[in-house]
Amino acid sequence: MAEMHHIEVDRLRAAVRHLVKGFGSQDKEIELVTENLIQANLTGHDSHGVGMLPRYTEAFLEGGLKANAHIVTRMDSGAMLSLDGQAGFGQVIGHEAMELGIARAQEHGSCVVALGNSHHLCRIGAWAEMAVDQGLISVHFVNAFSRPIVAPFGGGDARFGTNPFTVGIPMAGQPPILLDFATSVIAQGKTRVAHNKREQLPSGQLIDDQGRPTTDPVYGVKAPFGALRTFGDHKGFGLALVCELLGGALAGGLTTSGPADGKKRILNGMLTIIFDPKKLTEGSVFETEMQSFVEWVKASPPAPGQDHVRIAGEPEREHRARRMAQGVPVDDNTWQDMLVAAQKLGVDPAVMKQLAGL
Ligand SMILES: NC(=O)c1ccc[n+]([C@@H]2O[C@H](COP(=O)([O-])OP(=O)(O)OC[C@H]3O[C@@H](n4cnc5c(N)ncnc54)[C@H](O)[C@@H]3O)[C@@H](O)[C@H]2O)c1
Repeated sequence: MAEMHHIEVDRLRAAVRHLVKGFGSQDKEIELVTENLIQANLTGHDSHGVGMLPRYTEAFLEGGLKANAHIVTRMDSGAMLSLDGQAGFGQVIGHEAMELGIARAQEHGSCVVALGNSHHLCRIGAWAEMAVDQGLISVHFVNAFSRPIVAPFGGGDARFGTNPFTVGIPMAGQPPILLDFATSVIAQGKTRVAHNKREQLPSGQLIDDQGRPTTDPVYGVKAPFGALRTFGDHKGFGLALVCELLGGALAGGLTTSGPADGKKRILNGMLTIIFDPKKLTEGSVFETEMQSFVEWVKASPPAPGQDHVRIAGEPEREHRARRMAQGVPVDDNTWQDMLVAAQKLGVDPAVMKQLAGL
């Protein structure tokens, strides 16, 4: 098990900000990238946190990730938008696409945003949070275009990405519902996290390069590669397929259709539907029905070994509260990879260490 650092959040933020400057990013980009990654760690999704920076560095140095890029509008019919992310930081491109989509949903009641060619959009829940903050519902179908890493149900090798699906629903006077998951049993970054921590994965998540079940995360990290499985067998596979078709073929114009090309960039296509629930229900029916359903479900007696029923979004809020108080755990392998990335970007790793207090 690798040594674990618990880094106070403001210190980690300062160290990450320093690293991100190495991409040559303008101030707003530095803030958006840093904050998005820190929030992924705070919500417990280390697979999408600061540990992504070494991969972003490789993608940037290869030319597959562009600094200081912004969305370009391909088609605009008011409540429907088609946008190109110019291979820019997903943290910036996602933010700009959602700002535009939210403004249109406020004007028209709903907006469909087709976003293609964005570099890694990271934790898709971050985009749903922007919508729920404005009282809007959002639904996101996303394809992930890099090395194929997920096997279709019934198949023995990887054919597509971890294709996340996300829904955000605001609840009056209460935290929102935030359903946000990869359609693979686990997000790909979780194999990296387990490998860096020298841990095995639970069974049923991964197959090896021969299509046999394995618990060794190395098959998700280094050649010879195996593949992740979809969650819920054929059901998760079906949702992954829909994400590839709507997020990839329709929004992104780019689907996985061949073996890995060896490039480090991760492109996401995202089809987002944003709408105002107040335009669909009269009075407070939706709110009261939603609240009474959530209360009813949460009142279920805990199953053996469980403490209580949680609603989507709750585990992330619990993580955030804990990590704000106790610091963000970053394993030493990840931290060392970040220092190497800093060096490759011409940023002094000694300053990063000092800022992080390590
Ligand atoms: N950009 C990309 O290409 C990409 C690809 C894959 C995943 N992702 C992101 O990775 C992140 C992690 O995905 P994941 O599949 O590992 O997430 P996960 O398996 O931790 O599932 C997260 C979802 O399940 C809910 N949840 C978790 N535990 C729960 C419990 N005990 N009871 C009720 N609900 C519970 C969470 O609130 C959340 O909605 C997500 O933010 C996703 O958007 C991004």
